[in-house]
Amino acid sequence: MSWGDDLAGWWLEEVLSDPAYGDEVVPLALEVLQPESGRRYLDLGCGDGRLMRVVGDAGAVAFGCDVSGRLAELASRFGPSVVCRLPDLSWAKPQSFDGAYAVLVLEHVEDAAAFFGAVASTVRAGGVLALVANHPAFTAPESGPVIDPSDGEVTWRWGSYLDRGSTREPAGEGHVVFHHRPLGRLLSEAADAGWSLVRMVERGVSPTRADRDRLLDRQRHVPRLLGVRWTRR
Ligand SMILES: C[S@@+](CC[C@H](N)C(=O)[O-])C[C@H]1O[C@@H](n2cnc3c(N)ncnc32)[C@H](O)[C@@H]1O
Repeated sequence: MSWGDDLAGWWLEEVLSDPAYGDEVVPLALEVLQPESGRRYLDLGCGDGRLMRVVGDAGAVAFGCDVSGRLAELASRFGPSVVCRLPDLSWAKPQSFDGAYAVLVLEHVEDAAAFFGAVASTVRAGGVLALVANHPAFTAPESGPVIDPSDGEVTWRWGSYLDRGSTREPAGEGHVVFHHRPLGRLLSEAADAGWSLVRMVERGVSPTRADRDRLLDRQRHVPRLLGVRWTRR
């Protein structure tokens, strides 16, 4: 079982129970997207549409798409939403959006080059693409914290960072696949598809969460989230 209706329930519980989403993910998404009133944005892998609501609150118009019919239906409370399987955006009118955003989605799409190309076709020249993703340091297979038993220092094992790869993580009754590509490759694939880098943010675990968890506290130096804003050439 991978993404689709089967994992929709797991994701809804995961978001609702994880304070990191509201404390870390949403602020980073707004920082890189900066939604403008009256503009039309496509939410790629919109989930239940909670970010479409935030974008709508900023006076912009959000359209959603998701591989899960159940989540796309929930998202339609906040704007028109369709079922899609990224990177296929052939159903969307070329250059019909002022911008697009993908939050915690790209790491579930195997072909990032195809993703960047498809989004470039649907966004007008000068439009925006905003990304929030798990940082590649974190998605690399076999990466993870290593604790020095002598003094409790936490260092980070890079795993096979420089290669493309994937990991399967347990999720509810099934699993979810995270696709890894090193940062240089991700940025180069975006550039090749016509996206100009405007801003890149690497963020560690928030102080609020680190203060509550000793192991996380010792990983403050490790990048966890990646935020990027591009404009289309
Ligand atoms: C981690 S959730 C994030 C949901 C939403 N972006 C948010 O921040 O609340 C990942 C979402 O991507 C969707 N998804 C995963 N793979 C997809 C694909 N190939 N095409 C479209 N949606 C996909 C899942 O159904 C799920 O809603």
